[in-house]
Amino acid sequence: MKKNTVVINADIGKGVINKNIYGHFAEHLGRGIYEGIWVGEDSPIPNTNGIRNDVLEALKNLKIPVLRWPGGCFADEYHWKDGIGPREDRKRMVNTHWGGVVENNHFGTHEFMMLCEMLDTEPYICGNVGSGTVQEMSEWVEYMTFDGESPMANWRKENGRDKPWDLKYFGVGNENWGCGGNMRPEYYADLYRQYQTYVRNYGDNRIYKIAGGANVDDYNWTEVLMKNASWLMDGLSLHYYTIPGDFWEGKGSATDFPESEWFITLQRALHMDTLITKHSTIMDKYDPEKRIGMIIDEWGTWFDPEPGTNPGFLYQQNTIRDALVAGIHFNIFHEHADRVQMTNIAQTVNVLQAMILTEGEKMLLTPTYHVFEMFKVHHDATLLSVDGNFDTYEFDGQSLPQTSVSASKDENDVVHISLCNLDHQNGANIDVDLRGIDLEAAEITGKLLTANEMNAHNTFEQPENVKPVTFNDVKAKGHSLSVALPPMSVVVLAVK
Ligand code: AHR
Repeated sequence: MKKNTVVINADIGKGVINKNIYGHFAEHLGRGIYEGIWVGEDSPIPNTNGIRNDVLEALKNLKIPVLRWPGGCFADEYHWKDGIGPREDRKRMVNTHWGGVVENNHFGTHEFMMLCEMLDTEPYICGNVGSGTVQEMSEWVEYMTFDGESPMANWRKENGRDKPWDLKYFGVGNENWGCGGNMRPEYYADLYRQYQTYVRNYGDNRIYKIAGGANVDDYNWTEVLMKNASWLMDGLSLHYYTIPGDFWEGKGSATDFPESEWFITLQRALHMDTLITKHSTIMDKYDPEKRIGMIIDEWGTWFDPEPGTNPGFLYQQNTIRDALVAGIHFNIFHEHADRVQMTNIAQTVNVLQAMILTEGEKMLLTPTYHVFEMFKVHHDATLLSVDGNFDTYEFDGQSLPQTSVSASKDENDVVHISLCNLDHQNGANIDVDLRGIDLEAAEITGKLLTANEMNAHNTFEQPENVKPVTFNDVKAKGHSLSVALPPMSVVVLAVK
């Protein structure tokens, strides 16, 4: 087994891991909302006010801190007034971006806010800049948050909601360099300044305004936005997907892939660290106090759609490889907790790197779900300093660090250590020098997610193929922990 050494200082806090790093994204795309979350009150699938119960319960267990909606690309084609009032009267339109299917608008503002209340999660709404007006955006905020007499507040009351909702996070457009209008950064920066002016704070409601940010390594976009509008924003977004192949020529299969694609997928997941560092450096120039959050509101794996499914629905399976991608991302996000205030995986149910897949009344939890569940101990915990000397994971003349490690301390002084072994063939020994803790007196427990095959995944026939089990391969010696990780594994230890 290869050898990795890590020093963790339980006494040295490096700030707080914002729980919003564990945020989600649900778009009107494929079976993400319709079927995946919303089945309607008359469905034979058991539901509460139209939201399917099985998915609701599974998501509650994740303690999702924030949920982004309605898109994505859909956001810049969405006209919110189509999605309020009696459902039978709502406009039926074409979802032009995603599959050309009918969008009946049955899941609108009231349904989304109800879902957030049921999940006890903060709503993050993305407004329409690409094909919407300033007035439309401004009225949406008035509709949702104004407590008093006004045309929009009165309309909300007529539609059954007396009190306004709390709305903290609001995005001013999505991917405005692409599906959100194909704009140049200079043009979008001006539009951002204009649109955000009319995103008002009514009463006590304070909106955290998020400007549409860069695609991958478009550093010029970040530079132009920061230079021209930084003082008017609270957050700036960044989108980066992990794609083993080529976006247009073929991304690669979610389940049927060679070793080389395992390696390249993890290599590309690790690239997130470089992107955050470089975009942060630009943000630091205009915002050295780090007031503005980097909001990575779309990330995750993007593979070819499952054979036989509508290619516009972006439905893909989810394997132990996806679990590693999630674990690696979280460990990276933690290290950048001073700048990264929120991230939103794409997407929650039935789309891209989903937590949950559904088929009719059946539901399964993916390996990615289990990583979110195992890592929730890091929510709002104090990030600890971790210094690592990692062995290499080599493939075809290239190498990556074999392991990825992060640690935090919660409000009860319990230390949690998340460890990933990227290597698909070799186990990893990690010696953890855990300073500031009396290990003789400590209780150490752990959870492990692993598999024997690179493409191990859960199916509707075998929904528990990949699931967490108790992890025992950890021994305390003096002030060190000796941990033996199996190949392709994610482990979270609790030391209390
Ligand atoms: O998540 C799928 C799509 O990816 C989103 O709609 C868009 O913002 C991005 O290109």
